[in-house]
Amino acid sequence: MEHNERREFIKMSALAFAGIALQLNSISAFAQQSNLFQGKSINPGLNWDSFLSKVTKLASEQFEPNWNQKEYIKAVQALLLQCKFPEFENVKKEFVGYTDKNKNWFEHSLLHKEFNFQVSLLQFEKGEYISHHNHPDMCGVINMVTGNALVKNYTLHKELEKTKKQSYNGQTYTLKSCVLEETKKEILTPGNTSILTSTKGNIHSLMPNEFTQLVDVFTPAYNEKNEAASIWYQVNEEINFENNPKLFEAEYALS
Ligand SMILES: [Fe+2]
Repeated sequence: MEHNERREFIKMSALAFAGIALQLNSISAFAQQSNLFQGKSINPGLNWDSFLSKVTKLASEQFEPNWNQKEYIKAVQALLLQCKFPEFENVKKEFVGYTDKNKNWFEHSLLHKEFNFQVSLLQFEKGEYISHHNHPDMCGVINMVTGNALVKNYTLHKELEKTKKQSYNGQTYTLKSCVLEETKKEILTPGNTSILTSTKGNIHSLMPNEFTQLVDVFTPAYNEKNEAASIWYQVNEEINFENNPKLFEAEYALS
């Protein structure tokens, strides 16, 4: 099954399965604090080119034997937080040109892509849910620019020897069961970041609670291999696995 078909299948199944209804209280976004000195900003921030060249340098180290993924993620987080994305010309252009082309799905703008990493702008209408999916052999940082979203991260706990057949759009798929461990559950507001590494919290879901814009950096960039290996999960969040509040049974379509 093609990645996009699999994604669509799981997305639709998850929507039907969970009856997605976000019950978040509306929370007010807070503006990112700026450093002020005598009424003037002493933190001019990074411009797009500086941001990009710094990430390029950091990401080039990912294939070195002693590369520390956690430190890399921290450094990218710090760089993202120095960026005033709404002021960047390329981001402004996307903001101005935004239309909700894909109903019930976010709009994706690729701001930069090279083999080592990619930077994207994602724009969501309220409720445009991204169901649970992983990022094989990748790490990433999400930086909230406007709006707010409930973000949950999971790590694969174990595979289960259980499969079942399910039909969708005239095709029959085999769903395999596994158990996911929830590692983080947070509401991101502007100035917040969410991270995932190749080994921890690599699976995530995102539910925007209002119109939401975020910029993410994924390392390495999507390529044929990690695209093909990525999995969309249908998670039963209503019942805990073996009464452990952090464990949830999930299913995914075998290719
Ligand atoms: Fe993702």
